[in-house]
Order: sequence, then C-alpha cells, then structure tokens
Amino acid sequence: MANIKIKEGDIEISIPENEKLSGKIPFFNPIMKFNRDFTIGIAKIFNVRRFLDGLSACGALSIRMKKEIEDIEVNANEINRETIKFLQQNKEDNNVALVIHNKDLNLLLNEDGNFDFIDIDPFGSPVPFLSNVLSNARHNAIIGITATDLGTLCGRFKDASVRRYGTFSAETDFDKEFGLRNLIGYVAREAAKYEVGIEILFSYYFMHYFKVYFRVKRSRSRADETLKNLNFLLYCDISMSRRYFDIDGVDVNKNFCECGNKFKILGPIWKGKFAAQNVCDLLSKEVKEKTEQKILTLVKEEQNILVPYYNIHKFCKIAHIQIKGTEEIIKIADESGLRATKTHFDGKGLRFSGNVKELTEILK
Ligand SMILES: C[S@@+](CC[C@H](N)C(=O)[O-])C[C@H]1O[C@@H](n2cnc3c(N)ncnc32)[C@H](O)[C@@H]1O
Repeated sequence: MANIKIKEGDIEISIPENEKLSGKIPFFNPIMKFNRDFTIGIAKIFNVRRFLDGLSACGALSIRMKKEIEDIEVNANEINRETIKFLQQNKEDNNVALVIHNKDLNLLLNEDGNFDFIDIDPFGSPVPFLSNVLSNARHNAIIGITATDLGTLCGRFKDASVRRYGTFSAETDFDKEFGLRNLIGYVAREAAKYEVGIEILFSYYFMHYFKVYFRVKRSRSRADETLKNLNFLLYCDISMSRRYFDIDGVDVNKNFCECGNKFKILGPIWKGKFAAQNVCDLLSKEVKEKTEQKILTLVKEEQNILVPYYNIHKFCKIAHIQIKGTEEIIKIADESGLRATKTHFDGKGLRFSGNVKELTEILK
C-alpha cells in the first residue's frame, strides 16, 4: 500500500494513499483539524500532564499534543495492528516520545483510568466506550468525546435513538441542537449510574460531528445536581412552539399547543448550558483559525438563551411572514425587552427568549 504525507501544524504524518473514512485500514480525517486544535487548547488551559488519546488511529492528535505541549505524557491507544505500524512510524518520523498501547480501549481503561484527560474520537457513536470511561476516570479528569452518528442523535432515526441513547426523538427545525443535547443528556445519565456528576466545559457542532468536553465529578450529590439539567421537551411541529417541561406531576394528555395540535414529547435531553463562557474565552486565546474563533464567539453568546433555536426561514414560511435579516430581528427583539442571538448550529437559526406568539410579533 502506497503512503502519502499529510501536514498539520508542525507535524507531518504518513497515511495509506487509499485510506477510507471507515474500515480496517488506518484513518485520517483532515476536517477533524479543529477537533484536534480544540482538544490541544483544552489540554493547555487545564495544564494537563497525563493524556490518553483513546482511539488514536495514525496518531495525528497524539503527535501534535506532544509537540505543542511541554512536559506532558501522551498515551496513544489503537486497536488495529496495521494502524499501529503507521502510528509507530509517525512517532519516529516526528521524533516524539509517545506511550503506545495496542489494546481495546475498554480493556485499557479498566487497567488504568488515571489520566488528567481522556479523549475519544470513534467512528460513529461514543456509547460503546462511555461506561468504562465514566466508571474508571478519576475525580476532576477531563473527558473529550466526539460523535458522528448525527442521523441518530438529531432525530432522523427514531428507533436507533431509543436503542442507543434511550431517548424519544423527532425531526425538528433545531435538529443539530437536539442532537448535541441528546448526547450530553446521555452522558449525564450514564455518569449518574456511577455516582458521577459532570461539569460541562465546552461543546459544539461542526460539519459532521459533535464534540463535548466535560469534567468528571465523583460525588453522589454532584450526580444528583447534574440530573437536574435533564428535561423533556414539548414540540409542536405545526406552530414550531417548543418548551422544556418537567415530567413530574404533569398530565401529559393535557399538553396541547395553543394552535390545538398535540405536543410531541422529546427527550430526556440536556437543558443546561452546553459550554462554560469562561472556557470559551480561554480557548479563544489558544486556537488560531477564523472559523474556530467564530464558533467560540457564537457558542459563548448562545449560553444566554437555553431554549433551542428556531429555523427562522421555516418559521416565516409557516407563519406566512416575509423574512427579515438576523441583525434586524436581534435589534427589534432587544427594543421589545426580549433577546435574540445567532447560533453556531445553523446559519438560518436564531435563538429567541420568548414564545412563538412573541416571535411572530417581532417578525411582522
Ligand atoms: C475515527 S478514528 C480516530 C481518529 C484519530 N483520533 C485522528 O484524529 O486521526 C477511530 C480509531 O479507533 C480505532 N478503534 C476502534 N475500536 C477501538 C477499540 N475498541 N479500542 C481501540 N481502538 C479502537 C479504529 O481502528 C480507528 O483507528
């Protein structure tokens, strides 16, 4: 198999020429540069000294991490023997000291979970690894998880969402945000099983994946606190009305939208902040790309309105209103004592602090 060289940051790595996006041969995805940039940024901010790249493939993240941070022990784990050959070669070519493991990640975590930061970047869903991550990671460890199973998380494959994440889903106009909140909700429930709470540091959506960074809090009370951030969401696919609701003591049969349509009950999903605003500020000093800065600015602002964004184009079409520019809507909302912000999830999306009636008034 012929090799090609790929440059990213200060490193150059070899990958097989006919590498594919999945399968048994070594893997490298250049679109994941931002994912690696943010992960290295998080490691710098939190002064990480012992890092595990749990699913390292050819070692792009591990090698960059070791080159870009002084005084860090980088552990790169990869199950595939063919891929390990590339990882070993790339380590030598870049002259970095990595601790290489050739194990099933679940096995490795049961032998040694004592890392400051564990990052997992699987093909598809991180679910097969979360139980072992959450039961073995130490108190205050940082965990980074990537998910690329967007169809399931975002409501396109309802049965798969029930099977894999234990959640009710549907197609919505805020599918990307539903997906991220679906994923974080699952992590919170999985953590609670082990009397672990989570502290969200930073999460985002980009192109074909979600990324969530959180801290592990080994405490029964922190687990209970974390679970308070979970809720069901009522959604009307006629009026596009949406609101979180607590399932406790509510007669679900009485949950009809003002338009007369019966609400769909989605979730349970994460209703809390999906990023800490101070972490967004700190990360903006660590990453260089314009798109990364834009994601950070939007994600930071988005934490002020936690109800999922509206697809304004769809909303205007349904309500037979002529569409206005986002900046204008934000200004009118502000003048009306309400709040609207852009969202990194969708260029046609807008977060809005009021209900659909108030949104209609503002758009008229
Ligand atoms: C999406 S790739 C990782 C890409 C890598 N993080 C990067 O930035 O280039 C996922 C890798 O996980 C490996 N893998 C899959 N299941 C595994 C397991 N149970 N334990 C360890 N590695 C595994 C695959 O062989 C594959 O190389």
